[in-house]
Amino acid sequence: MDRIRITGGNALHGIIPISGAKNAALPLMIASLLTSDTLTLENVPHLADVEGLMRILGNHGVDIAVNGRRERQEEGYSRTIHFTCRTIVDTTAPYELVSKMRASFWVIGPLLAREGRARVSLPGGCAIGTRPVDLFLEGLAALGAEIEIDGGYVNATAPKGGLVGNRYRFPKVSVGATHVMMMAATLARGTTVIENAAREPEIVDLANCLNAMGARISGAGSKTITVEGVTALSGARHRVLPDRIETGTYAMAVAMTGGDVVLEGTNAALLDNALDILRQTGAEITATETGLRIVRNGHGIHPVDVVTEPFPGFPTDLQAQFMALMTRASGVSHITETIFENRFMHVQELARLGARISLSGQMARVEGVSRLKGAPVMATDLRASVSLVIAGLAAEGETVVNRVYHLDRGFERLEEKLTRCGAIVERVSE
Ligand code: UD1
Repeated sequence: MDRIRITGGNALHGIIPISGAKNAALPLMIASLLTSDTLTLENVPHLADVEGLMRILGNHGVDIAVNGRRERQEEGYSRTIHFTCRTIVDTTAPYELVSKMRASFWVIGPLLAREGRARVSLPGGCAIGTRPVDLFLEGLAALGAEIEIDGGYVNATAPKGGLVGNRYRFPKVSVGATHVMMMAATLARGTTVIENAAREPEIVDLANCLNAMGARISGAGSKTITVEGVTALSGARHRVLPDRIETGTYAMAVAMTGGDVVLEGTNAALLDNALDILRQTGAEITATETGLRIVRNGHGIHPVDVVTEPFPGFPTDLQAQFMALMTRASGVSHITETIFENRFMHVQELARLGARISLSGQMARVEGVSRLKGAPVMATDLRASVSLVIAGLAAEGETVVNRVYHLDRGFERLEEKLTRCGAIVERVSE
């Protein structure tokens, strides 16, 4: 199993290209199930989760052609991929595939909308909480689907003539359930109004792509999304938006190690809140023509309190990385996690590097220390694992991060991007 070995202490200087967003690419790929034409996606990041979803889509009958697989199409190495689903050959998404990645559950929306039925295994994914699917099922039921759970699978059936538009209010904001409801409603009869919808940039990206495919969606990015059903969708060409979590992660790495880095191909509007918080810690952040520049020279790191919230609030996917930064702050900070109930698994590992963190329910109290010292640590989930890399970059001596397959799910060429900026990071394969 691969490990990542980091020798800490170097400031970061240089340019880091930001990849296409994993969390946009996955629903966009799933949208290819809605049409018999070709959906071409540009800037798809080369990640284990993307490869996993390709296998799942292939199982449903999606033909996939990757342009210039081994070529460096662009600085970020992200690829252009063509997805064509002439016919859906299988409406079952099996446990072996779905259990590896929660987002693969989302095929339930398009399968139901196009074929009138879906049998999808209940999901797995990162161990960061119970992550139920009740909101998905309630939303689809509001469109007329009959839902039954049987042997670990959700069996969903649309009424004769297909799903029917309706008004539905989510009792809680969910990114995945909003994606699924939006996709399902594109082919429903009549108009669907989704209230208390998620407002993440990835929702807007999916809506833009679906509209390019002929859907009639308005309001994406606000709390109320309206979808007027159409009878069929066509193909389209769409570019995946930049990864705001990767952007924030590298910004935090620079804020922690010090240095001067340009994050290329990204934009501040995707993560205003997190950048404001980072500025309060003492980093200088400016927009450049091609992206964002992060500088921290000389000053210490100021402690700042953070509460995770749905977009436009501070993202839960940056919470672990921010905690790593706060371990070196000149004082005490409080980090409250409101989205997932079990997203503090990095705390024990950061403690192995010398961090002083105490937990009380959903809140972590982080007392900054003047130095961290390298140690072997274990990656527990995707975002937690990258927080250990950031901490390792700022720690004295050697940190070895075990179980890096978590990192490969979500960070494209991480060690190469960091090495080019002067970090000492290498992958050790066994
Ligand atoms: C997506 C992101 C993930 C991010 C999360 C929150 C992708 C591929 N993943 O995950 O990186 O951390 O948004 O920003 O885009 N919930 C229910 N019932 C449901 C569905 C969700 O109670 O039916 C709860 C979840 O347990 C969680 C909260 O709602 O507590 C938010 O989850 P959700 O927004 O659905 O997260 P994901 O879409 O899984």
